[in-house]
Amino acid sequence: MYNPQQQKELDHLARELLRRLAKSKPEADGEGEAAELAGSLSRVIRYNDWKYYVQSDPVLSDAEYDRLFTALKALEATHPEVIEADSPTQRVAGGLTRAFPPVSHLVPMLSLENSYNEQDLTEWDRRARESTGLGELEYCVEPKFDGAGISLVYEEDRLSRGATRGDGAVGEEITVNIRQIRAIPLAAKFSSFGIGQAEIRGEVMINKDIFKKFNEQRAAENLPPLANPRNAASGSLRMVDPREVGKRGLTAILYHLSFFQNLPGKPLHPTTHAGVLEMLRSLGFRSPAGDMKVVRGIQEVIACCREAEQRRDALPFEIDGMVIKVNDLALQEQMGMTSHHPRWAMAFKFRARQGTSKLRRVEFQVGRTGSVTPVAKIDPVPIGGVTVSSVSLFNEDVVKEKDLRIGDTVLVERAGDVIPYIVKPMVDLRDGTEKKIRFPRDCPVCGNELVRSPDESAWRCVNASCKAQVVERIVHFVSKDAMDIRSLGETNVKKFYDLGLLPDIPGIYSLDFDKLKELEGFGPRSLQNLRDAIDHSRTQPLHRLIYGLGIRYVGEATAKTLASAVHDIGDLEDWDVEKLTRLEDIGPKVAESVHRFFTNRDNLNMLKILKSSGVNSQSAQYKATGSGTLHGKTFLFTGTLSGMKRSEAEELVEAHGGKLLGNVSTHLNYLVAGEEAGSKLEKAKKIHSVIILDEAGFLKLIGEQKKGTHGG
Ligand code: IVH
Repeated sequence: MYNPQQQKELDHLARELLRRLAKSKPEADGEGEAAELAGSLSRVIRYNDWKYYVQSDPVLSDAEYDRLFTALKALEATHPEVIEADSPTQRVAGGLTRAFPPVSHLVPMLSLENSYNEQDLTEWDRRARESTGLGELEYCVEPKFDGAGISLVYEEDRLSRGATRGDGAVGEEITVNIRQIRAIPLAAKFSSFGIGQAEIRGEVMINKDIFKKFNEQRAAENLPPLANPRNAASGSLRMVDPREVGKRGLTAILYHLSFFQNLPGKPLHPTTHAGVLEMLRSLGFRSPAGDMKVVRGIQEVIACCREAEQRRDALPFEIDGMVIKVNDLALQEQMGMTSHHPRWAMAFKFRARQGTSKLRRVEFQVGRTGSVTPVAKIDPVPIGGVTVSSVSLFNEDVVKEKDLRIGDTVLVERAGDVIPYIVKPMVDLRDGTEKKIRFPRDCPVCGNELVRSPDESAWRCVNASCKAQVVERIVHFVSKDAMDIRSLGETNVKKFYDLGLLPDIPGIYSLDFDKLKELEGFGPRSLQNLRDAIDHSRTQPLHRLIYGLGIRYVGEATAKTLASAVHDIGDLEDWDVEKLTRLEDIGPKVAESVHRFFTNRDNLNMLKILKSSGVNSQSAQYKATGSGTLHGKTFLFTGTLSGMKRSEAEELVEAHGGKLLGNVSTHLNYLVAGEEAGSKLEKAKKIHSVIILDEAGFLKLIGEQKKGTHGG
């Protein structure tokens, strides 16, 4: 797609554009200049999309990328005539999608025949050799991607349509959502291969790490997790808000050219499947070209499949097998297809990570927010190398929807790193002795009556001092992604709590080590480890503390957003819901919950004790500046700034701990006067205590703060 020379040039161009942007706004004088600048920005952004989403080898930081993107958007806003149909900004559509209309695929999207062992493969190879009359066939072996099938049409080198698989003949048109996936180029030079119209097939997927984060966020919002990345991908493709699709971190791998129309007199297209993959790669798609092997004979195919099964978990995405394809496209044509599958391809399915077991009973666990989770206890069953005996059922609705009963034989699945879940009960195996699952109406731990609000699927114990909740809150606080006090795992927290040694979260910092010494199993070594881990937790970055507090709906990502918006955690006490919602990705529900937390007396008291125990409560960007921060200083801007927007300058002040005022008064410390400053400047001049700065002076002040940060 981009040769090393082009890459070097585009890397340089990116740096140059960033330098230009740092100096001033991307002003373009004439129309010609605007078009040229927009062209450069588009080229650089497109190239960086490819580096990031196709090559997984980013060259720019997120902030740098955002700066280029914002500049292009601003430029296009003032010069709409320069907007190109495939400009990176044009991925983002306007409103919501009302319906996904049905579309006929140019060629039906067939399935694959499945094989599960060497015999199946050998038999298929025998038939293939027989039908072609060849002694040995050349095969391409590539992963079978476990995502959502899509088909894309490119006309005159532009993406014109994206569709789901549907029933194979007719799919749903999802072009606006497909355009959100930045691994899919909006334009691709098929014409350079002599192709006018092309229909290509592939799979939309979510990488395992992104999927895991996604489910963590759902858990923080008390939503049941999605079962696997495949469901997450196919669900994401059908979301009505394309902007939400863009946030899901989807990727796409394209592996099949199902239809193409030659341009007159230009039959340059590839003649092998490997050639197709290479072509797709060179056009800027993510294709299996690098994950594929061309081999001769079925024995090599078998070896390849076995080896791939070993490496399966090391891949960043889920694959559920390998696909073996006859490499020669003319031979493929000759072999043809059934109504169900092509005869020239065969899927080799890995051993299923599923098992069946008996559902013996259901336990009800109370979480840190009081939500009661049903957990199925099943006869231990090995699945994909792990023995599973306990499976979360999430909530009452899930149990009802699946119609699970005690005594059912259940199908259990455990995909990759994903937590195991019950797919369904085997209804045919019921003998009438199965019993309905009864949900408790009182808390199984403290006996308080449970409540269920109409907008939630969880039953909740609202007794905040319920032992289960207190213990779970402490367990969450010390967990790996929060304050990371590892030697204080769930067992110890429970034990210490029961002994009255650890009544609540702040209790961690006043543990009586003399008493712990007397406990069985706590030698000097393990106590020292615990002491060290607790000490270390005092210096954790602020977002870990915020996450560790277990505020409802606040997962790791939200905790980071909050931490970077404040100087000290105490600042959040002054933030109202409206101010919170102005933060990126914080909606009214989350804002409401954060606000409730930081206005609750018990919580504020807890924070006070944590602070006085030496737990870090400050955001990283100022922590090291000590007395040199703008903390406690007040600012007011007037007039026009030339190098930055007023809002940016105000953010800088807040980011350094300063406060903004609306009017000139004796409370004001600094007035920053831009061009054409008027009455406020005059008024400020009359108050001796107000320091008047111009833009350069302000930047210098901020710059000094920054130096302080690095200097420590
Ligand atoms: S080729 C005409 N190659 O698996 C044959 N399919 O179970 C087109 N799939 O419908 C399919 N990885 O959605 C092919 N490397 C791969 C694949 C693959 C995943 C999907 C595809 C297909 C389904 C059949």
